[in-house]
Amino acid sequence: MPIPALELEAEKAVSPLNGKKNGAVVPTLWKDRFAQRTQRMTSSAIRELLKYTEKPDVISFAGGLPAPEVFPFAEVELATATVLREKAKMALQYSPTEGYLPLRELLVRHMARYGIKVKPANVLITSGSQQGLDLIGKLFVNPGDRILTESPTYLGALQAWAAYQAEYLTVPIDDDGLDVDQLEAQLRGGPKFLYILPNFQNPAGVTLSLERRRRLVELANHYGAPIVEDDPYGQLRYEGEHLPPLVQLDAEMHDCAKGDCDFTGDVLYLSTLSKTLAPGLRIAWVVAPESLIARLVQMKQGADLHTSTFAQMVAHEVAKDGFLDRHVRKIRELYGERRNAMLAALERHFPGEVRWTKPQGGLFLWVTLPEGFDSTDVL
Ligand SMILES: Cc1ncc(COP(=O)(O)O)c(C=O)c1O
Repeated sequence: MPIPALELEAEKAVSPLNGKKNGAVVPTLWKDRFAQRTQRMTSSAIRELLKYTEKPDVISFAGGLPAPEVFPFAEVELATATVLREKAKMALQYSPTEGYLPLRELLVRHMARYGIKVKPANVLITSGSQQGLDLIGKLFVNPGDRILTESPTYLGALQAWAAYQAEYLTVPIDDDGLDVDQLEAQLRGGPKFLYILPNFQNPAGVTLSLERRRRLVELANHYGAPIVEDDPYGQLRYEGEHLPPLVQLDAEMHDCAKGDCDFTGDVLYLSTLSKTLAPGLRIAWVVAPESLIARLVQMKQGADLHTSTFAQMVAHEVAKDGFLDRHVRKIRELYGERRNAMLAALERHFPGEVRWTKPQGGLFLWVTLPEGFDSTDVL
């Protein structure tokens, strides 16, 4: 029987922090009317931990918060003025669910440099990758369906899919990412899809090696299981070589490189501007075959009709003409320094029995306490 173990972990982590799992008292008229699917829905432990960031004497490393010092304030200000001056009627109007076409075109060019060759018609703009995950759950997950994830994995995904009553098949990770030797047994459990974070994984910070990427895609193909590749951090690499995304390896494995096709659609790919520009914009995207974009569009229409036209146009105005690449280079430098400072501080201050991962990029590292220590007690 697959167990929603990670979800239980999340639930356990919430209660000591705020005392109440679901907040204040619910009015009598509503209290017995919650849908059954909400029974397993909890606040994310991460969001709860973020409450500590409000305390003035705490420097919190609890969540993947981008550094506000490098938000592109001046560029956003200028872009906002330009959009309002030149395209206000459009920017303040409803717009197509798929997203603002010039932004989708820009993202297609951007992704091509990282090895992903698709057309604007393969891109759906979402209100954060978090919405992309939710829409995927809405489209594919029936109660009891099993999703294969790394353990640990991104809590926000578990939170999104709790609403669709997903179960989980989990595969442990080590310093080279998901342990592919243990993958096959779980693939036999018939997952609906695999949810994989190949680059600087949230929360462990590990990166899936090239050899394991190939093996993972081969095995998924062999078992006929599609993959959801979530990649918010891929561009934030501080050392080592860029590794091809699963979506590219899948195309190569199908001989797409010879020109028959660039994209099989068996791997859905998600990325976001949250970590490279600013999360407050809530601009992210899903890459999928056109047939699935059409279905995801239906799901999105029920949720929010479309991502904010204004935010999309401002994001496009900021990102265009090479600014996104220049900005990514700048934040890579700053974040790389901070990663080094964190690793040096751990080395200096933590006892020898504590272990931690050494991320090559991204925002996370994973500390493992010695046997017998409870991390909640330590917190
Ligand atoms: C792995 C992963 N997926 C998705 C998200 C959500 O990102 P967004 O801000 O685009 O909703 C995050 C945010 O931390 C993340 O770490």
